[in-house]
Amino acid sequence: MSRGLCRWTRGILIALLPLLFLGAFGGELRAQAVPGVEASPPATLLPEASRADVWRAVRRGEQGYVAAPNMLGGQLIQSEGEVWRQIRLGAYKQWSAWILLGAFGLVALFFALRGRVPLEGGPSGRTIERFNGLERFAHWLTATTFILLALTGLNLMFGRTLLLPLVGKDVFAVLTQWGKLLHNYLAFGFMLGIVLMFVLWVRFNVPNRYDVIWILKGGGLVGRAHPPSKRFNAGQKFVFWSVILLGGSLSLSGLQLLFPFTFSFFDPTFATLNAWFGTQLPTGLSPIAEQQLATLWHGFVAVILIAIIIGHIYIGSLGMEGAFAAMGSGRVDYNWAKQHHDLWVAELEKRGVVPAE
Ligand code: HEM
Repeated sequence: MSRGLCRWTRGILIALLPLLFLGAFGGELRAQAVPGVEASPPATLLPEASRADVWRAVRRGEQGYVAAPNMLGGQLIQSEGEVWRQIRLGAYKQWSAWILLGAFGLVALFFALRGRVPLEGGPSGRTIERFNGLERFAHWLTATTFILLALTGLNLMFGRTLLLPLVGKDVFAVLTQWGKLLHNYLAFGFMLGIVLMFVLWVRFNVPNRYDVIWILKGGGLVGRAHPPSKRFNAGQKFVFWSVILLGGSLSLSGLQLLFPFTFSFFDPTFATLNAWFGTQLPTGLSPIAEQQLATLWHGFVAVILIAIIIGHIYIGSLGMEGAFAAMGSGRVDYNWAKQHHDLWVAELEKRGVVPAE
């Protein structure tokens, strides 16, 4: 008897599940009947002449109506969407390609002209700690997630042009689908990475007077001078602040794309810029305009940061003898440290962290 009852209870619960689902999401799924309003047929089913009228109205910015409770649906067809599409597939994509090719070109040119920055005097055989375990964890978490985000993101921008003809539709579809999923989830690792980096390194990245000397002497990369430097030089501070500020902006615009119609960052930013600098940026942006701006901004900032990071990866690996060890084992040769960060070594010696030579 009790077994029979149990079966019944289970049966009723299973029968109720679709109802629960409908209760939770039905409002979104059902088109509501609006009393006194007759639903008009979709624009594509209208005769040619009335279809033209509909599009003219859309071009004038007139908003249609939807009978579904989700009013955002009424904005899906709007003239700006076409403008956005044209920008995205036109100049925007071309400029992004040029910026990335330019970054590779500059690195190659630099390597051809300057070669690998040598470790002067050779290795001393004595090493000092440059980055501890937590610092290296923060760096590699940010680096691995960023590289995968960059590859999967660039696939969204250029994949149809570059990858699709190479691998075919089926493989491209699978790669892109998995890539997009990866892109969504890895973003959280990247955000954690930049927060950690900020907390660990911000105090070493406050600009000081040595940065001016470093910049004036071309960082010692141009020519043979060795401008004085504390733990991070001006070039590294530039990389740090780029990662924090551009990475932060990437994160915010990414969240706006991940959770559509939840945040509006552009409207308040434009209003603030107008108030502070007298610019004439549009305000009162519609939710869909916010989303369109977020896609453009996200891709633009990503391309700039990728270009900067191409330079960073070069100098941290192939471009400078002895640099990689800093993030590999965490220890660098004493001569390398003296050559590139003399003031930092002097400070460590003064504090007794490292025995003086
Ligand atoms: C394979 C890729 C990468 C390599 C080989 C690499 C290498 C290095 C090395 C050797 C350092 C220490 C430099 C020193 O001792 O002074 C460093 C620092 C740093 N890395 Fe990376 N890195 C890579 C990717 C990334 C990525 C993707 C990001 C961020 C998106 C990043 C952000 C930073 C920052 C902010 C610093 C501190 C500032 C600086 O030294 O420029 N790195 N990296």
